[in-house]
Amino acid sequence: MRHFTHLKDLSSSELLALADSALALKRSPLKSLPLSGKSLAFCFMNPSLRTQVSSEVAASQLGAHPITLNLGGSGGVWGMEHREGVVMDGTAAEHLKEAVPVLGRYCAALGLRSFPAGQSWAEDKLEPHLTAFLKYSTVPVINLESASGHPCQALADLATIKERMNPKGKNFLLTWGPQVKALPMAVPNSAVEMASMAGMNVTIARPEGYDLDPEVMARVKAQCAANGTTLKVTDDANGAFEGQQIVYAKSWGSLANYGTPPSSDNEFRKKWITTGEKMKKTDDAIFMHCLPVRRNLVVADDVLDGPWSVVIDEAENRLHAAKAVLLALLAPELNAASSRRH
Ligand code: CP
Repeated sequence: MRHFTHLKDLSSSELLALADSALALKRSPLKSLPLSGKSLAFCFMNPSLRTQVSSEVAASQLGAHPITLNLGGSGGVWGMEHREGVVMDGTAAEHLKEAVPVLGRYCAALGLRSFPAGQSWAEDKLEPHLTAFLKYSTVPVINLESASGHPCQALADLATIKERMNPKGKNFLLTWGPQVKALPMAVPNSAVEMASMAGMNVTIARPEGYDLDPEVMARVKAQCAANGTTLKVTDDANGAFEGQQIVYAKSWGSLANYGTPPSSDNEFRKKWITTGEKMKKTDDAIFMHCLPVRRNLVVADDVLDGPWSVVIDEAENRLHAAKAVLLALLAPELNAASSRRH
């Protein structure tokens, strides 16, 4: 594996093996420090709790020195230009054409968290910063969430499911949640792609206008067809819960009205929030969310605080997934060995 940027670059068996590796590292942490002497740079263009901390801790526990760089937003070091041939007389003081190879002279791998701008999906989908990292980097690049995907989250999600059940043939529901702003589609895209690659039946419950990116849906459809599993898209916010074994709640913005926040109408919010009443319709499902989550807007307290919720384990598994990815990129022989231990 050269980079870890999108699930579409992995085969199903590679994804499942990485999840097994994460779980093996969780059960039996390495006693050696295989990345000793290496430095890793994790670049963030927007704030993060789980991704930043799990990446830093994973690096430290494997013996590497993590460096987190804040590249964007208020408090960021400086803006980074990605366009070719521009006159840099705006806010960006450095071009990624220099910054990325320079980081590669110091560090064994680079991570990038780059949120979409939220103005045009056609532009955001091009993921210009991640694309520039891949173009200019001489060392492996890890996608720490981009406009279209969050593969580290999806890997941790799959490990969380595998800890509890064999995903093959299980019923996976991605259910949309209300929000105060239009959030990216990275997590839901990766969640349904992961579910289809792991051999699950996939249901997506969302309001009209909240379909996921057609290219992601085409891959999910093809994967489900190849596995002989089902794919259903519905606006039945209650009925969708029936018979589900995994419920994954997430807010995301509308493609049809890109960048526009969802309705704040109380009836609409009441319809789409995940509640204990809805969870009782499932086949004893686990409840998942990538976090952060807005309580009693996306999901009710009784779900997050109830027996269904696995969100804290899911967040913990970001650490083990991060280690599995770092080993796969930088010490693949160890990654395979840790996967075989169990
Ligand atoms: N789930 C996730 O990526 O969380 P952070 O935004 O806190 O990194």
